[in-house]
Amino acid sequence: MGTTAPAPCRAFVTGHDGAAPMRTQVGIVGAGPAGLMLSHLLHLRGIESVVLEVRSRAAIEATIRAGVLEQGTVDLLTATGVGERLGREGAIHHGIKLRFGGRTRRIDLHALTGGKAITLYAQHEVIKDLVEARLAAGGQIRFDAKDVSVHDLDTDAPSIRFRQNGRAQELRCDVIAGCDGFHGVCRPSVPESVRTEYQRVYPFGWFSILAEAPPASDELIYTCHERGFVLISTRSPTLQRFYFQCDPHDQIANWPDDRIWQEFHARLENQEGWRLIEGPIIHKIIIAMRSFVCEPMRHGRLFLAGDAAHIVPPTGAKGLNLAVADVVVLARALAGFYGSGRTDLLDDYSQTALRRVWKAQHFSWWMTSMLHRSAEASAFDLRRQLAELDYVTSSPAASTALAENYVGLPMEL
Ligand code: FAD
Ligand code: PHB
Repeated sequence: MGTTAPAPCRAFVTGHDGAAPMRTQVGIVGAGPAGLMLSHLLHLRGIESVVLEVRSRAAIEATIRAGVLEQGTVDLLTATGVGERLGREGAIHHGIKLRFGGRTRRIDLHALTGGKAITLYAQHEVIKDLVEARLAAGGQIRFDAKDVSVHDLDTDAPSIRFRQNGRAQELRCDVIAGCDGFHGVCRPSVPESVRTEYQRVYPFGWFSILAEAPPASDELIYTCHERGFVLISTRSPTLQRFYFQCDPHDQIANWPDDRIWQEFHARLENQEGWRLIEGPIIHKIIIAMRSFVCEPMRHGRLFLAGDAAHIVPPTGAKGLNLAVADVVVLARALAGFYGSGRTDLLDDYSQTALRRVWKAQHFSWWMTSMLHRSAEASAFDLRRQLAELDYVTSSPAASTALAENYVGLPMEL
C-alpha cells in the first residue's frame, strides 16, 4: 500500500439515507470468530472498527460449530481479557485417543509438546464472550445488516453498503476486513482474474449429534473403523458432541435416533469393555467436508480472514483457530499502518497468513485421509491406514508431529 495512515476518527452511529455516510477506520464484514476477534484486538490497539453482521445476535450466539481451542487461541483470549469464563468453564485436555484395529492408543499432547494442551469450549461461547466484551467497550456491531456489498477496493477509501431496518446505509473506511465466512460476499468481490482458488471436496461428510448424556470418555476419541470414522467429543458434563462419517448427500430423515446409536455402537465398541452412554439427541446436522484456499488473501484495501479465505475439513479442529491466527497477523499489520504509517506488514499479510494456512491444510487433509474410509478404498488401503495409525501412535517422532500440529503451531508474525 502506498499511502500514509489516516488520522483516527470516530464512527458515526446514525444511518444515512441522504445524510452523511458513517465512517470508521476498519470496516469488518461478519461477526464470527475472525470478525469479532479482529475488532477486539484493534480496539486494544486504539483502532476503531464497525462490524456488520447479517444475522441477529441471538442467531450467532446459538449456532453450534467448533469445540477445540488450540493452546495459542486460549492464551490469546486470556491475555486480551476475554478468557475469564473460558478459564472457568473450558475443559483442558492433555491428550487425545486414536482407536483403530480394535484397540485404543493415547497421544500425550502435554508430554509431547512441552506442556501444551487443548481446551474444549464451544465456539458460540467464544462468540458470546467477544460480543459482550465489544459491546461493553462501546464497540459497534451492527446485527441484521442486510444486502452487504463492498466497493472501491482498489482505492484508499473503500466503502461498505448495507441495509438495516429497511434503510440503505454506507460505511466509509480505510480498510475492509472480509470475515464473512465461506458463503460471504467479500471473496466473490475480488475479481476472478486476480484470485486463485485451490479446492478438494471429500466424498464423505460428518453426521453430527448433540446428546444429553454424561461424557463417554475423558478425552476425545478419533476412530478409524471399517464402517467409517467416528469422533467422540464433549461439550459439558451433561452434553456430548459425537460425529460419524456418512455420505455427504445423505438425509437427516434417514437417521432416526435408534439407527444413529446402532451405528455408533457398531463402529466404537471393541474388546476393551468400553460402552457408549446414550441419551436424548437434541441436535442433528450433516456437514460436508472440503479443503479450500483462496490466494492471495488480500485485494487492494480488502483483507480476507478465516473461512472467507480458507476451509479445512474439521478432522484437525483447525478452522476457528486458523481464523484467530489470521486476525492476529492482520491486527498487528494494521497497528503498524495506523501507528507509524508502515505498509510493509499489510503488504506481507497474505503471504504470512498463508504459511500457517497451508500447514493447517496439510494437517487437516492428513488426519482426514488417515482416519476416514472411502468407498473406493480396497482391503489394501485399510491395512495401510492401520499401519499408519500404528506408526503414528508408537513412534515418538510421528506422535510428536501429530501433537504439535494438534495443539497448534506457534503464531507467525
Ligand atoms: P464464520 O464463523 O463463518 O463467521 C462468518 C460470519 O459472517 C457469520 O456470523 C455470518 O453470519 C456472517 N456473514 C456471512 N455472510 C455475510 C454477509 N453477506 N454480510 C454480513 N455478514 C455475513 N474449527 C476449530 O478450530 N475447531 C473445531 O473443533 C472445529 N469444529 C468444527 C465442527 C463443525 C461441525 C464445523 C461446521 C466447523 C468446525 N470448525 C472447527 C470450523 C469453525 O467453526 C470455522 O472455521 C469458524 O467458524 C470460522 O470463523 P469465521 O469467523 O472465519 O467464519
Ligand atoms: C468438536 O468438539 O466439535 C470437534 C472436536 C474435534 C474436531 C472437530 C470438532 O476435530
